[in-house]
Amino acid sequence: MSRKKRILSGMRPTGPLHLGNLLGALANWVKLQDEYECFYFIADWHALTSDYENTALIERYRKEIMIDWLSTGLTPEKSTLFVQSEIKEHAELYLILGMITPVSWLERNPTYKEQIAQISNKDLSNFGFLGYPILQAADIIMYKPYGVPVGVDQAPHVEITREIARRFNYLYGDVFPEPKVILTETPKILGMDRRKMSKSYDNAIFLSDTPEQISTKVSQMITDPQRARRSDPGNPDVCNVFDFHKWYTPAAEAKEIDRDCRSAQIGCVECKKKMALNLSKALEPIREKRAYYEAHPHQVDEIMADGCGRARKTARSTMESVRAAIKI
Ligand code: TRP
Ligand code: SF4
Repeated sequence: MSRKKRILSGMRPTGPLHLGNLLGALANWVKLQDEYECFYFIADWHALTSDYENTALIERYRKEIMIDWLSTGLTPEKSTLFVQSEIKEHAELYLILGMITPVSWLERNPTYKEQIAQISNKDLSNFGFLGYPILQAADIIMYKPYGVPVGVDQAPHVEITREIARRFNYLYGDVFPEPKVILTETPKILGMDRRKMSKSYDNAIFLSDTPEQISTKVSQMITDPQRARRSDPGNPDVCNVFDFHKWYTPAAEAKEIDRDCRSAQIGCVECKKKMALNLSKALEPIREKRAYYEAHPHQVDEIMADGCGRARKTARSTMESVRAAIKI
């Protein structure tokens, strides 16, 4: 019987996963599987808060992401992998928590304020967007986890979750432990254009990219902007290509590249070729597993259904105690 502490985290299905997702969250999730009992889920209802006008892709992304997860090492043997919208209990708990959460807590949420200020191409003036943290709180406390591994941008949501849990307990008696933030180091991964790697900037290298796609994308990467000519010495410290060498090239080789860049012994074209090769090699096991799961879609469906079944059992039992506590 597993006596490991439980953790839970989720991702919105807004597109296939890229290197930023892998290095920022997923690789860490994979590691955490050995230390914790993990619940990982696809937050498809959450994707609606911003993409409600275009839902056509959500289902496809849900499957893509599950394949990305399985290919990078999340496994149903160690983790419960499920889909939010398959567990209707989340909606019930969301409704109840909505009754006890002051609007002021939602309005002062930094993520909310930031997105309202920054995002102009989408209409975010809906109730669901304001209530986003309540749904996230329901997702989390439903499984009574010890902690929630997230990057710093999501930490405020876990803080609100703690406050909501505390308020529920205060009003109705102790049902929910307050989940801890397990802060994940998220290295800043830049895309080809040196902006943060993101699907919406069209600058991402996807886990599903072929070696040819990788090499094309790497060849488009902006390098040290000061290095205009081949004969100019470069500075790897400010070069995005070199950051990837640090991740994917054996240390000894990276050291040589560092030296040769500074003395203009190596040109960016050659340097990029080496990086693309090492990156492709590193992603090869993921690509192979991807190919396997793409050829066996029923297996993916089964894994998803099995995970949902396990999650649902826990959710049902939580909701029984919630209903008993609020006497409805
Ligand atoms: N808000 C998270 C994100 O955008 C996704 C999410 C939804 C989540 N529910 C969660 C993360 C519960 C952790 C726990 O990335
Ligand atoms: Fe960057 Fe490599 Fe060019 Fe140096 S040689 S500037 S590390 S791409």
